[in-house]
Amino acid sequence: MNSPKKVFITGASSGIGEQLAYAYAKRGACVGLAARRAELLKIISDKCSDLGGKPIPYQLDVQDPEACKSTAEDFIRNAGGIDIAIANAGIGGDDGLFSGSSDQINAILNTNILGVTNSLIPFIPVMKNQKSGAVVCISSVAGFLPLPYHGGYSSAKTAIRMIFDSWRPTLQKYNIKTVTICPGFVDTPIVKGSARKFPMKSAEDAAESFVRVIQKGTFTFIYPWPYRLLVWLVKLMPIRIYNWMIKKMFSKPIT
Ligand SMILES: NC(=O)c1ccc[n+]([C@@H]2O[C@H](COP(=O)([O-])OP(=O)(O)OC[C@H]3O[C@@H](n4cnc5c(N)ncnc54)[C@H](OP(=O)(O)O)[C@@H]3O)[C@@H](O)[C@H]2O)c1
Repeated sequence: MNSPKKVFITGASSGIGEQLAYAYAKRGACVGLAARRAELLKIISDKCSDLGGKPIPYQLDVQDPEACKSTAEDFIRNAGGIDIAIANAGIGGDDGLFSGSSDQINAILNTNILGVTNSLIPFIPVMKNQKSGAVVCISSVAGFLPLPYHGGYSSAKTAIRMIFDSWRPTLQKYNIKTVTICPGFVDTPIVKGSARKFPMKSAEDAAESFVRVIQKGTFTFIYPWPYRLLVWLVKLMPIRIYNWMIKKMFSKPIT
């Protein structure tokens, strides 16, 4: 793929999605910016224009499949096609394990799994016909680690990685890349409370790295590199030892 010209990003109103929008705008791309907070999208859109991009903002809730489909159709019509679709929108939070209600965990599962399939699948037929493109999901290092109190978040991030692993051989036949990005802590508003004590990369640096790996078509990218070591160590660790260790580390939800 040459320099991408048409890039659609969900969760573009903040954090990693916002910085991805600027990174592609600087490269002169037409960027579809989707999120619920329209007022933030307007500000980010103006900045994308200043950087030399062609932004198209969309107020969108990724939990709504019909809205995702019509938004994708509108972007394809206005941008003249699609090169890269990035499912970045996501929410954090704990499961509400003792709340007596499944609302909290279900909101996380809906946004972080169905939000990904809702926003990417409408682009795939066009990519198949043109025999090019890339679909990208922002998973997480948490998808390799069953984090106490955060089963919804960890499992959603594992699920989307698995969906991408399943799609990859099929989509490769049509020259469509499937890139799973698994960040560790990146300094954005999703990282709250005690979690902010962990070392964090800036969202700007993260976005620049992600643009490069998307261009290369890397299958699964764990960022930054020390987390690769952590993931590898956890894979080798017997579950009883992991359980004992993690119980000591997390006595309450990361808020
Ligand atoms: N920062 C980290 O340390 C880290 C680590 C691993 C993975 N991640 C993943 O990276 C992605 C981006 O997160 P971030 O760190 O940039 O956090 P963020 O600054 O909180 O951004 C989250 C974005 O998702 C959007 N969003 C949430 N629910 C949505 C919905 N229902 N429909 C449409 N948009 C929605 C938000 O926009 P609106 O509220 O305006 O809709 C916002 O733009 C997430 O998938 C997150 O899980 C982050």
